[in-house]
Amino acid sequence: MDPAAILKQAARTKNPDARAKLFSLYKKQKLVRDIKTCAGCQLYHTRKNAVPWSGPAPAPIAVLGEGPGMLEDEQGKPFVGSAGQLLNKLLKEIDLDRDKIFVFNTVCCRPPNNRTPLPDELVACEKNMRTQLDISEAKLVVLLGATALSIFKPGEAVGAWRGRWFIAGDRVFFATYHPAAALRSPDRLKDMREDFQTLKKLARVIDYDRDREEVNRLMTENIEYVFNTCPEALNPANALALWERLSEWACRAYNCRNMYLLELALKKEKELARALAEFEGKPIMESWPRITEVAARVIEDLRRF
Ligand code: URA
Repeated sequence: MDPAAILKQAARTKNPDARAKLFSLYKKQKLVRDIKTCAGCQLYHTRKNAVPWSGPAPAPIAVLGEGPGMLEDEQGKPFVGSAGQLLNKLLKEIDLDRDKIFVFNTVCCRPPNNRTPLPDELVACEKNMRTQLDISEAKLVVLLGATALSIFKPGEAVGAWRGRWFIAGDRVFFATYHPAAALRSPDRLKDMREDFQTLKKLARVIDYDRDREEVNRLMTENIEYVFNTCPEALNPANALALWERLSEWACRAYNCRNMYLLELALKKEKELARALAEFEGKPIMESWPRITEVAARVIEDLRRF
């Protein structure tokens, strides 16, 4: 439907809810039209079809890829080729339904021969990408591969961020490899499967929708558990539970914009860091390196926030 016609209809509509729905539809249709007619960079000369997002908006989770490939260019839809098939499979394995997820790309037009988008192409398409992200209203955004990560963590390696989350603006971002890399390498596929298990947990927390009082109670319990047991937590038997609770709690605090608890975490984080530092130099048990590493990652995430 023509966006201008939707806008006219919205102007005639008296019911505020119906008007808000029409306005949201207008924004989506206008964005699709803007993307499909975009001539903002050289990629428009070689594309067959520009590729806007697929999936519902709003959606709780968004997945950001790199750019359309050959099939996507032909069909005007993201992730319909072999990388898309693998993405669907990985999502299904963690009980996420692709149809309920907002899927989009850093650039909307196919780079020739599927090359990586050039910096000026990424810049030219950033407005489209960010407007799509806005209309997705997603709280959790999965970044597939180095190009998607580079928008939010410029200059950082996907190998360093894979399987980890960070907060930017009012969203939680989770990084992993691009499925095309996993199609080329069984090791990458194994890593992606591992990352998707973390994503499964994160998705459960982010999608969390209980009432605020209950959330606050749970968070306070978590904080007490995590920080009052801090020295014991640095014992191999407890450290993994610490990490799970800490990351779950941080997401919940973030979801509720509970600044008091977030501040408390930042303060307590120092205690955790001190306890970790004290541990250094003591004999390292077999499971320690991994556990200290995950605990250190949590600290880093909190510090970045
Ligand atoms: N790879 C991407 O990054 N995006 C697509 O849409 C398809 C393949």
